[in-house]
Amino acid sequence: MPEQSRVPGSYFVRTFGCQMNLHDSEHIAGVLEDAGYTPAPDMSSAAVVVFNTCSVRKSAEDRVWGNLGRLSSRGALPVVAVCGCMARRVGDELIASGRADVVFAIEDLGDLPSLIERSAERPLLSVGEFGTAHIDSLPSMRRSALKAWVPISHGCDNYCTYCVVPYVRGEQRSRPSSEIVKEVSELAADGVVEVTLLGQNVNSYGRDSGDIAFAEILAGVGAAEGIGRVKFETSHPRDLDSQTIEAMASVDAVCGHLHLPVQSGSDRILKEMNRGYNAAYYLDRLGEVRSAFEGVAVTTDVIVGFPGETEEDFRATLDLVRAAEFDAAYTFIYSDREGTAAAVMPGKVPGEVIHERFDRLCALQEQSTRRALESMVGRTEEVLIEGAARRGDMLTGRTRGGKVVLVEAGALGGEALAMVKITGSGKHAARGIIEEIIREPRGQR
Ligand code: SAH
Ligand code: SF4
Ligand code: F3S
Repeated sequence: MPEQSRVPGSYFVRTFGCQMNLHDSEHIAGVLEDAGYTPAPDMSSAAVVVFNTCSVRKSAEDRVWGNLGRLSSRGALPVVAVCGCMARRVGDELIASGRADVVFAIEDLGDLPSLIERSAERPLLSVGEFGTAHIDSLPSMRRSALKAWVPISHGCDNYCTYCVVPYVRGEQRSRPSSEIVKEVSELAADGVVEVTLLGQNVNSYGRDSGDIAFAEILAGVGAAEGIGRVKFETSHPRDLDSQTIEAMASVDAVCGHLHLPVQSGSDRILKEMNRGYNAAYYLDRLGEVRSAFEGVAVTTDVIVGFPGETEEDFRATLDLVRAAEFDAAYTFIYSDREGTAAAVMPGKVPGEVIHERFDRLCALQEQSTRRALESMVGRTEEVLIEGAARRGDMLTGRTRGGKVVLVEAGALGGEALAMVKITGSGKHAARGIIEEIIREPRGQR
């Protein structure tokens, strides 16, 4: 790619990993635009490319290395900056590879424009202590006019034995509740209708700082004028208390969707994972949620092939998944993460055994996912339409329960909150037609 095809002063951010990273990337865009950079339409025309990375599984890191390799093999290089979880885990390696000009911890985002400038002389690594100073007050470029992410805590101190997050994000630091509620009111005043509260374990909110409980956050945020939809992620089964379940059911704005990762159905494996609950406790919590909040959608995460997982352990996972009848499940193949307790546990499960179990689990869950989508047909659902779907001329959006719905665009250009009649369902999504538009972004119509 010839040098001149990169637009000077332009940037492109590529995000990997979780919603926290997607949200952090809005701040990256905000900080760069504040410093005078303009957005580039794609990676190949940007003068500065930022990779916001994930370390949760080896495959996530491999994707980033692949992207970095493709960029450097092109010859004419943009300035490459890397942040996110890999910056903490393998920052030195990234610099030593010669493929990154700047490697920075997200806490140092405010310095990014100056780091980029100074990197002309030599590559720079800026990864300090986990900050108590958050990036939450930095400028932000929200991708959506109607929905927004709001971090309520950073980091995690659960130390599930397979997980790298506590090492790359630090221990839990809760944001002051007053700041959270203020931010949500400002978003509402700006026309936002849906907020998703983010934390690695939202249920332990405030425990580090002695602030109010998560249930009270739900009530406070749900009371903001104009906020019609409150979502949150992720809940930890051990910490999901009855007070939170009651708040979910009683605060009108709180949506009927709970993402409650179970990870395994085997009590022995759950213990090895340091999850702090057993299968019976999990199902008990699930029962309480479902009886308090009729029609609530429940999704989960499952890891297949944790060290020492036997066929019997795996069958216990299948039994739990069958009993729980999840609306959807995100299934992951166990991946060794250096520095975690599980990485040095004996009994690594052979790849072919894991894949065979993985396929059985997916086949089982597929049926529940289909049933959940089928049960929506004929109903009218409130859908937040997000924009064009990947294929065809359809738009894509989500119900309050988090189900993906594809709708005919008609006269609608992009985002909207709408009532949608569900007319059909498939493997991953439902289809519908718009009955009524409730809200569009300001400035439209
Ligand atoms: N704090 C959240 C998100 C953690 S990462 C939570 O606790 O749910 C998201 C999911 O990735 C986890 O729920 C887990 O299922 C999966 N995961 C984490 N570490 C993993 C590993 N080493 N191998 C495979 N999957 C992993
Ligand atoms: Fe990782 Fe467990 Fe924390 Fe989730 S709760 S981020 S899986 S350590
Ligand atoms: Fe990945 Fe870091 Fe999020 S490891 S899942 S980007 S917290």
